[in-house]
Amino acid sequence: MALKRILITGASSGIGREMALLLAKEKHQIAITGRREEALRETAEQIEQAGGKALVLVGDTTDPKIVARHYGEIKDQWGGLDWAILNAGISLRNDGTEFSAAIYKKTFETNVFGAAYWLEAIIPDMVKAQSGTIAGIASLAGFVGLPRSGAYSSSKSALMVLLESLRVDLAASKISVVTICPGFIKSEMTDKNDPRDMVFVLDAETGAKKIIQAIEKKKRLFYFPWPLAIPMTWILPNLPRGVYDFIARRALKRRLKK
Ligand SMILES: NC(=O)c1ccc[n+]([C@@H]2O[C@H](COP(=O)([O-])OP(=O)(O)OC[C@H]3O[C@@H](n4cnc5c(N)ncnc54)[C@H](OP(=O)(O)O)[C@@H]3O)[C@@H](O)[C@H]2O)c1
Repeated sequence: MALKRILITGASSGIGREMALLLAKEKHQIAITGRREEALRETAEQIEQAGGKALVLVGDTTDPKIVARHYGEIKDQWGGLDWAILNAGISLRNDGTEFSAAIYKKTFETNVFGAAYWLEAIIPDMVKAQSGTIAGIASLAGFVGLPRSGAYSSSKSALMVLLESLRVDLAASKISVVTICPGFIKSEMTDKNDPRDMVFVLDAETGAKKIIQAIEKKKRLFYFPWPLAIPMTWILPNLPRGVYDFIARRALKRRLKK
């Protein structure tokens, strides 16, 4: 792969960090973001040890001024970006009986607006350059409203639909848009899950490898692993909603009993 200038948001842990370390082996320039400075510096050290070049950008992706400043730093140092991997995200549980708009707001501010601020910053230069690849990390959870995960599921749905629209808009400017929908991957985000719920779980390095391959191939929509993707993307969304409710309620009851 030719040397690239790559942004990975949310690279202080989990999938983002693993993607950065894999891409570093190919000597790319990698800008990494997140709120935890120490964790980012550790990732940066590992990037440099692996042969890549790291640019550490510490700050909250829910603040458009910070995102604009971060892109300014990338532009000053590298002139622009070849790839932008919009990966930063959070997952907060909320049972509908205790519905919290604040949880939805926080989730959308991070998972949707956090990506949107970056898109606003990077797209004009990619359009000028008539090149670039934008990848968004959505989730298989975006295909259905999972119980107690309404905020997360709906934010990932919003991100998927946003990226789909953008993919068509940007095609004439030779910019590729890749939507990635992983299943369960071991990370800080999923450490709080009951391991018995994590069906077909992958380690973060395997997940990161699959994501990078999909971005290299400029896949429009990539979901994995297939044993979970088939029910999540195809069976569950197409069932009569009464049947979906029955299955989802039984799964929830089982989870609560554990
Ligand atoms: N793990 C899974 O099973 C799974 C499945 C499908 C999709 N995904 C998606 O994959 C992405 C990465 O998740 P992960 O599993 O690797 O979890 P993770 O280890 O918790 O990583 C999340 C990353 O996002 C960053 N982040 C969160 N809020 C931020 C904010 N306000 N500003 C800046 N950075 C922020 C975190 O950095 P700081 O804490 O340092 O800010 C961290 O680097 C997420 O979008 C997630 O929804 C994960």
